[in-house]
Amino acid sequence: MARAALALAAVALAAIGAGAAAAQETANGEAIYSRCAACHALAYDRTGPRHCGLIGRRAGSLPGFDYSEAMKRSRLTWDAKTLDRFLADPMKAVPGTSMGYAGVKDSKERADLIAWLREAGSAASAECRNRPGR
Ligand code: HEC
Repeated sequence: MARAALALAAVALAAIGAGAAAAQETANGEAIYSRCAACHALAYDRTGPRHCGLIGRRAGSLPGFDYSEAMKRSRLTWDAKTLDRFLADPMKAVPGTSMGYAGVKDSKERADLIAWLREAGSAASAECRNRPGR
């Protein structure tokens, strides 16, 4: 009995730990997004396209945004993997992209940024709820 209770407590603690780690990730991601905010916003287009609804979207597919031919033809769909590759070195991942940015070289920073984009850019987030990103 005491064993079971201990095991349960361990599971609960692990869950709290995982939750805290995820929160830390997204908090870091939000801070890193300030580097992107010169050109991007979640809910509206600026120099770069808006990021609401980014995960799962075809690259270069937002109606009304003037993408480069390179981005439109990239045939990428944005997920954790394609974003990681693109954000590490945009010009190498999509040669000819008009995103004039050197990239985020630190893989942990990219992971945090992508975790935040997934959460803050989801259709259910406060910023995106009323502004579909597709
Ligand atoms: C100097 C301005 C600038 C900065 C800084 C910048 N971007 Fe961009 N971004 C752009 C432009 C312009 C495009 C459109 C590129 C194209 O059409 O080739 C773009 C495109 C993108 C796309 C493709 C979106 C789509 O709808 O297909 C993603 C994802 C993206 N940026 C993420 C980021 C992230 C994350 C950062 C910060 C780490 C960042 N960008 C920093 C200007 C910028």
